[in-house]
Amino acid sequence: MLLSRRLQPELLDVLPAHDPVAVRSRRDLKLLNLVMLHPRIMARQMLRHAGDRPRKIVELGAGDGSLMLRLARRLARQWPNVRPVLVDRQDIVRPATREALAELSWQSEPVAQDVFDYLDRADPADIVIANLFLHHFTPGQLTEIFRRSAELAPLFIALEPRRSALPLAGSRAIWLLGCNHVSRHDAVASVYAGFRGPELSDLWPGGQGWRLMEGNAGIWTHSFVAQKC
Ligand SMILES: C[S@@+](CC[C@H](N)C(=O)[O-])C[C@H]1O[C@@H](n2cnc3c(N)ncnc32)[C@H](O)[C@@H]1O
Repeated sequence: MLLSRRLQPELLDVLPAHDPVAVRSRRDLKLLNLVMLHPRIMARQMLRHAGDRPRKIVELGAGDGSLMLRLARRLARQWPNVRPVLVDRQDIVRPATREALAELSWQSEPVAQDVFDYLDRADPADIVIANLFLHHFTPGQLTEIFRRSAELAPLFIALEPRRSALPLAGSRAIWLLGCNHVSRHDAVASVYAGFRGPELSDLWPGGQGWRLMEGNAGIWTHSFVAQKC
């Protein structure tokens, strides 16, 4: 059942940004990111694989910017004065989030745009990250995102749902955390659309010069890193 990916629309993607049910579901997402240890795993991957201090970090599908704020809290001491670019087709980064980032010396730039439009015209960056984002896309779309990201930055890091039995069981149990019906639907849909094995590496543009690392990170997560040699 979990051997092949199954993509289905997620409810949060079709709800108006300020619908109270969507606002509540984004709050659930923050909690789920913490339960999945994504701020910690992402910060570690960034520190491990970035060469020099990055100046510009692009997050694709950044939502309300809460993950970036958690990353800044972990990294701003070693990496001051970073410019995080928060790309999402919904315009939902709150001024308070930008202020909190600025207090850590990270001057953010929210970009309310579809990812493909953004990548068409993006300026170079040091790192591109994506958290719980890639599973929204078909293999053809992922190939396109990867092709353009590989031109944009020398390091790409993604954390996605792992498509296997334990994450599926976990996604069915998030009602225990008090998550609403949108989050409960989307969590299960995300696992069916998630990744396993070398599925993402297989879509990264061919050719020499990239080191690809893909596999489990923690209980729930599939991690993918592409680093330019
Ligand atoms: C599951 S949420 C994850 C948000 C955030 N990365 C996090 O971990 O909290 C997926 C996000 O991707 C955004 N998204 C989906 N398709 C998109 C597209 N084609 N272009 C830009 N953003 C998109 C949605 O608006 C949503 O905020």
